Amino acid sequence: MTRRAWVWIALACAVAVTPARAMANGEPPPSPVALALVAQMTLDEKLAMVHGTFDPDPTQGEAGYLPGVPRLGVPPLRLTDGPAGVRVLTPTTAMPAPISLAASFSRTNALDYGAVLGRDARARNQDVLLGPMMNLVRVPQAGRNFETLGEDPFLMSELVAPEVRGIQSQGTIATAKHFAENNQEADRQSVDVNVDEQTLHEMELPAFQAAINAGVGAVMCAYSKVNGTYSCSNATLLTDILRDQWGFGGFVMSDWIATHAATDLTAGLDLSMPGYWQPFFDADLRAAIAAGTIPEAALDHAVARILTVLERFGLLVASPPPRPTIDVLADADVARRVAEDGAVLLRNERGVLPLDAGAVLSLAVIGPTARSLLVGGRGSAHVVGFTEREQSPLDALIEQAGSGASIRFAVGDDLDGVVVPGETLTPDGGAPGDHGLLRTTSGSATQVDPTVDFTGAAALTGPPGTSWTWTGSIIAPASGDYDLRLQATGGGAPDPSTPAAGRSVASMSVDGTPIASITSFFGLSMSLIRTADGLTNAGTVLHLEAGQPHAISITGNAGDTPLSIRLAWITPELRQARIDEAVAVARSSHTAVVFAYNEGSEGVDRTSLALPGPQDELIAAVAAANPRTIVVLNTGDPVTMPWAGDVAGILEMWYPGQEGGGATASVLLGTAEPGGRLPETFPVSEDDPPTAASPERYPGVDGEEQYSEGIFVGYRWYDAQDIAPLFPFGHGLSYTRFSYSGLSVSPGLDGGLDVSFVVSNTGQRAGVAVPQVYLGAGGAPAGVQMAERALVGFARLELRPGDACLVGVHVGRPQLSYWSPAEHRWVVASGERSIDVGASSRDLRLHTDVTIGLTTTTVTIGLTTTTSTTTLPAGCADAVTLAAVACRLDELRDRVDALVPEGKIRTKLDAKLNAAKAKIGKAVGLVGQGKTKPAGKAVQRALGAVRGFRRRVRSKGAGKVIVPDAVPTLVGAADRLLGDLATLRREIGSS
Ligand code: BGC
Repeated sequence: MTRRAWVWIALACAVAVTPARAMANGEPPPSPVALALVAQMTLDEKLAMVHGTFDPDPTQGEAGYLPGVPRLGVPPLRLTDGPAGVRVLTPTTAMPAPISLAASFSRTNALDYGAVLGRDARARNQDVLLGPMMNLVRVPQAGRNFETLGEDPFLMSELVAPEVRGIQSQGTIATAKHFAENNQEADRQSVDVNVDEQTLHEMELPAFQAAINAGVGAVMCAYSKVNGTYSCSNATLLTDILRDQWGFGGFVMSDWIATHAATDLTAGLDLSMPGYWQPFFDADLRAAIAAGTIPEAALDHAVARILTVLERFGLLVASPPPRPTIDVLADADVARRVAEDGAVLLRNERGVLPLDAGAVLSLAVIGPTARSLLVGGRGSAHVVGFTEREQSPLDALIEQAGSGASIRFAVGDDLDGVVVPGETLTPDGGAPGDHGLLRTTSGSATQVDPTVDFTGAAALTGPPGTSWTWTGSIIAPASGDYDLRLQATGGGAPDPSTPAAGRSVASMSVDGTPIASITSFFGLSMSLIRTADGLTNAGTVLHLEAGQPHAISITGNAGDTPLSIRLAWITPELRQARIDEAVAVARSSHTAVVFAYNEGSEGVDRTSLALPGPQDELIAAVAAANPRTIVVLNTGDPVTMPWAGDVAGILEMWYPGQEGGGATASVLLGTAEPGGRLPETFPVSEDDPPTAASPERYPGVDGEEQYSEGIFVGYRWYDAQDIAPLFPFGHGLSYTRFSYSGLSVSPGLDGGLDVSFVVSNTGQRAGVAVPQVYLGAGGAPAGVQMAERALVGFARLELRPGDACLVGVHVGRPQLSYWSPAEHRWVVASGERSIDVGASSRDLRLHTDVTIGLTTTTVTIGLTTTTSTTTLPAGCADAVTLAAVACRLDELRDRVDALVPEGKIRTKLDAKLNAAKAKIGKAVGLVGQGKTKPAGKAVQRALGAVRGFRRRVRSKGAGKVIVPDAVPTLVGAADRLLGDLATLRREIGSS
């Protein structure tokens, strides 16, 4: 009997852009409990609910705080960053950067990643998590690209929905940020984004709507302006779209100091953050209410929205359940899995990876991020993880390669340098021939130090408030580019005006211009790549002329722990010497692995797509010395690679989080599969991306920016312009090989398309396939933009050698639609449209055309060419089948747990879903034994259980036992599940 199994990986695993997006839902009313509380509040109490203040507990260190109204049982609310982990003063799990999650193309990972964030936040006394970030990667050098989920609205929507559910399943309120079009850091607090209606709705907004549909509790409006109005003052965004069209029932908070007036309240903003720097939702709002220019009812509504969410998350109950503790090991497992699943193998010539026995017997490892793990990016997303768990990729390679291995390290690109020698320094007020710098302690006692080098046993101590300042001048011995480095750890004075900004540790200026600062948050030119001895490193390259003195001033602050501080530099000679050393090690090794990096940061965009410093030169030199050179990238977004054709392997590991060292080593050694695919296009040259074309597009001219490329962002641009990317969207190699066959398309139950095809592992190893479904342009009126192809579905399969799986991808009707600027709604694009299935946007293996006919109310689909598949190769992994369907049932149960209060109803709803899951499990087992008839019956019973669930949700919703705004979410999810089950039953029946 042929062993068969069935995989149905449909869009229902995440909510994506549902048909609801076309409807005007209207905002649900606040809950009766919230309204009753508002009625009892004084004006002062209500004002305190709509702007933040300082947390009286200085040990927390979160980004924002609301005091609550204790006399009415409204507790304080703590709000913490951010999308890569929880940023507070105590350690939490530092997850791989969100771009790595996006690269995993995994809804399950998104759910688990969210659950880690949510649980860690609750464990650290936090209530609101300021993430996920869901601004599209439009500008490839934008500073925060690492914090977001790539360039494609569909991929982003598919991942955002389970991530939000994951966060909220733990009782933490998630925040969809930054609404909207915060796609760059250049002039982010003022730039005016001019974007046409179709582009806005099709590119930036779908992920936000997916988050709303997944039940997100809060939305953060952005700093920038959209079409002439600041986002946080923008009634079109905050009221017309968010509330009236999408039916958002949560609350909107401002980004930090993104409020612009008291009247932002009536535009739709509920909460001004951080609150203590601006009078708008405090004194100004009080005055406006007194003057009658803003009705107090508007304030009441904002407070009621916030309270409604608090009630929904169980934060208003008298004795809330105890907060969880962080499960460090369980979190670490998720972090490690996401880092491996997000690893993208870009190039692998002659099978240079995974490293074979010969390679590890003689391996050169080069680069600063091999020795110091680059955990994450800079800015509010920076998380201090469980540092004791961090292992450098170098140490992990040595450990995992075992005792027979021979691994030699050379830094190649030296970021630490050497202590600036005393003979190049002259102290303030020194006589000719004096060397060193003048040290002033807390403004008085002075002495001359020959060098600034106080680390280890020599670290400085002093009572709180002590500061040390070194002044004098620096003279370069020869003209050239000098990288001046301030290196410090420990110490640190709190800044009372900005508790969230953390402690100020040390700073440095040259000729009166600040060039480096080290803080516990994000300092000037501060790197997250620590020195070999564990100091934080900040620096700038300056061109110095021989013999010319430059004034230098360095300050360090005392804190709870001794201050280690050092002034170092990398001279032109040292830079070249390090490259030469690395080349020599590479030349005498079997294989060379060069680690290269960039550092993404909030607040600043990169000035170039090139790797910083001498890295391109280093890689080219190593590749010339050793044909088996592999480059491991730790970047947050695309970089140019002039050496790409000269190296044998390229592996993108992104910023891989606290578990990233082990993950990197495992992928290099082949104990883990490089499971990721590119969520953004990597261009050949700086000139290729759409935003390179004109300053009007980026960074804007006179504060105005034109999104004139329209919907042609990312791969849509490269397709339209016929530009070959260096590595296309969706690209990523496996250590095994896959073949694609048997494409079949049929009309879906909801007016969409059901696409199925078979993916087979034809190689020798187990591996991960990420088949992607792209839909071609359809007919549309003149003036409507259409991408040559757009991602409309994907799956992630783990297949053993010889396994073959039937993959079902449902393309929902919304994915067949474009946003009509004439009709201000979604319209299905009819006519002949291509369906392509492949391994990337440029590696399309299967093709068919469908003709979509349109009547005013229904969509009919006529297939012009299809090939059918009914006979499957044997060996398809049953586990994948079970996981796929069970995943959606589990997600629905998570939603029930988040949206339905604990009690009898919730237990009954959960029971229905559990029954359905049990039946599916049974069906899969039966299919595996070839017993298709009873399997079909089991699926039929699962259908019955889900129908029962749906009925119960509706009736309890009508009786208001379930909050009304939860009903469409639950019914919608149940409907999609019913569609999947019906298809599964049909498939089994036709076998
Ligand atoms: C960032 C937000 C962040 C907030 C609080 C702002 O500068 O744009 O993403 O959540 O700070 O730290």
